[in-house]
Amino acid sequence: MAGSAGGALASAVSLSGGVGMIGCLFSLDDVRKELNIAAKNFKASSNPSISSSRTLPLGVGFLTFVLNLKDVLPVVEEFKPAIVWLFAAKELDDYKVWAAEIRKASPESNIWIQVGNVSAAVHIARTASPDVLCLQGADAGGHGFEKGCGIISLLPESADALVKEGLGQIPLVAAGGIVDGRGVAAALALGAQGVVMGTRFLASEQITIHPAYQSAVLEASDGGQVTKRSKLFDELRGPNMWPAAYDGRSLVVQSYKDHLGGMSIEEIQKLHNEAVKEDDNGFKPGLKGRAAIWAGTGVGMVKEVESARDIVEGVRRDAMEILGRVLKI
Ligand SMILES: Cc1cc2nc3c(=O)[nH]c(=O)nc-3n(C[C@H](O)[C@H](O)[C@H](O)COP(=O)(O)O)c2cc1C
Repeated sequence: MAGSAGGALASAVSLSGGVGMIGCLFSLDDVRKELNIAAKNFKASSNPSISSSRTLPLGVGFLTFVLNLKDVLPVVEEFKPAIVWLFAAKELDDYKVWAAEIRKASPESNIWIQVGNVSAAVHIARTASPDVLCLQGADAGGHGFEKGCGIISLLPESADALVKEGLGQIPLVAAGGIVDGRGVAAALALGAQGVVMGTRFLASEQITIHPAYQSAVLEASDGGQVTKRSKLFDELRGPNMWPAAYDGRSLVVQSYKDHLGGMSIEEIQKLHNEAVKEDDNGFKPGLKGRAAIWAGTGVGMVKEVESARDIVEGVRRDAMEILGRVLKI
């Protein structure tokens, strides 16, 4: 998760039996810094499968429209992350080029690509041959496909389409609105082999977000009402840099309410850019802040800050208990 899931969180998740991800950063110096934090934590681990791993046992994310591939390759080659996570290409065919070059730089790394609709999933599977496809449903926090749908229909339809095209061997993981064991059990029932959780980790001890951002996440309830997908959130700082196919889900902050009320984008930007200079960085409780607070519809179920270990282990335990109960019926 861009700028908030760094090496400390990613390594804590991996050391708890999940796969931690470093979210996309805009500078490769920052990516190196976070990878080094994680590498140090792994080195100190007494778990032999972690300390002797041939790859750095985490994922590192790149938004391909933000970074230059030639700058990314030396970092991938040096750190050999277990997973290179790609998202938000300007053109779907960009993934083919990225995947081929990353495989040359670090053949040991797996390539995971996140995608939000069926036809894009099939196209990417055919052209870029990812090791894993992450199907991201429209409930997800942060950025995603503007034209998408919930994971409950996205995952099985994508799976069917991939099988039909002879691409059914690619493992699928599910993202979007999954915050607890119930969501994981549902995703596995849909055919996913794993899940990706973002919003839940906004309430982890290792996340690096402003305390006011975290407070807003904890107090939010009724995700369908307090979050919204909109391109407006990408226009708050200035012109929207994202490729046209994407929008993002944020809490319904004051900027969005003003937008609905007819305030001009220039005035919204002016108020936003003043607010972000304040001590709370524009993140106010009660949906009164002006900065975007990226979060998924599952935000209403995220009620306390826990360690990454407690989250990973608790979610896994609950999912297994639920699946065991359901299978007994
Ligand atoms: C605060 C935040 C930042 C995110 N940043 C990224 C990112 O840098 N790269 C990316 O591929 N996805 C990003 N995402 C989306 C996640 O990859 C994932 O699809 C999403 O968190 C899953 O839905 P959930 O938030 O409901 O768990 C972000 C999500 C959130 C909430």
